[in-house]
Amino acid sequence: MDLIERAAARLAQQENKTSKTEAENVVDAREEAPPRPVAVLHRSEEHGLPLLKLDEERLRQAGMVVPDSTRSKIKEEYRHIKRPLLMNAAGKGTSVLKHANLIMVTSSHPGEGKTFTAANLALSIAAERDKTVLLVDADVVRPSLGALLGFSAEKGLVDHLIDPTLDLGDLLIKTELPTLTILPAGTPHHLSTELLASTAMQQLTEQLSSRYRDRIVIFDSPPLLPTTESCVLAHLMGQIVIVVEAERTTRSDVRESLERLGALPETAVGFVLNKTRHEMDPGYYGYGYGYGY
Ligand SMILES: Nc1ncnc2c1ncn2[C@@H]1O[C@H](COP(=O)(O)OP(=O)(O)OP(=O)(O)O)[C@@H](O)[C@H]1O
Ligand SMILES: [Mg+2]
Repeated sequence: MDLIERAAARLAQQENKTSKTEAENVVDAREEAPPRPVAVLHRSEEHGLPLLKLDEERLRQAGMVVPDSTRSKIKEEYRHIKRPLLMNAAGKGTSVLKHANLIMVTSSHPGEGKTFTAANLALSIAAERDKTVLLVDADVVRPSLGALLGFSAEKGLVDHLIDPTLDLGDLLIKTELPTLTILPAGTPHHLSTELLASTAMQQLTEQLSSRYRDRIVIFDSPPLLPTTESCVLAHLMGQIVIVVEAERTTRSDVRESLERLGALPETAVGFVLNKTRHEMDPGYYGYGYGYGY
């Protein structure tokens, strides 16, 4: 059974499990209030530069990966999710990928959990001994990493693309985890798709991919079906994670997203099943390369 068929079978199983009343009760994430930030921006006492301090209690309450020694179900799930991504990034997957350390997190629709997944992946990979993580807010149309991580309106990716002489280092926000750094989306711009398709973006991804061998770059990105930015971004990535929301994303959404994505054969595409309510569900359901097998 190919990857899409397995994904479709799994979704069909879920659809059968969901009674109509249950489905009607599923909360529409787009109508939910913005999350309480799980981090706070401080000025570093040493250099006066912004430093993001993670709030472990809030991370725990939000059901996120907490960077401490405690065990949790979510940490275990992200161990499973990150493993194939890290294998690919290390060139130990079944295919040779270009820019294997650049990972885009996307989904079909708004509110399916892209930002939540990107942030948890970043936290989980930052806990690896020999990896550093750059978490990029590439959802330049509706950036929301700042709302989750407690920073606002910083200059970032867009500003660098408009003026590549702006030093990237000056745009980064360090966190108290030495292995985790953030690049905010920056100033909103009406030509966001064109900026992501620009030579400046190509050069940036090239530089991010090649400068440090141990670095994993995670791009939180816009939804695939209502916007064009993610399709453009996809061609610069080595790996793409598609978030599928349990009991909401349909089989045809997944198929259409894959078609829109038009991922190149040297790109790995995987899926994360998010917001599952079934205790026995492992939280993810499959991983594959390219698409169509
Ligand atoms: N597995 C989860 N457990 C608990 N809350 C979750 C989970 N996934 C997402 N959420 C919550 O659902 C809401 C929507 O998630 P998120 O912002 O990550 O979606 P998104 O796909 O990035 O949306 P957008 O397309 O608007 O950027 C947020 O409040 C987030 O905290
Ligand atoms: Mg988001």
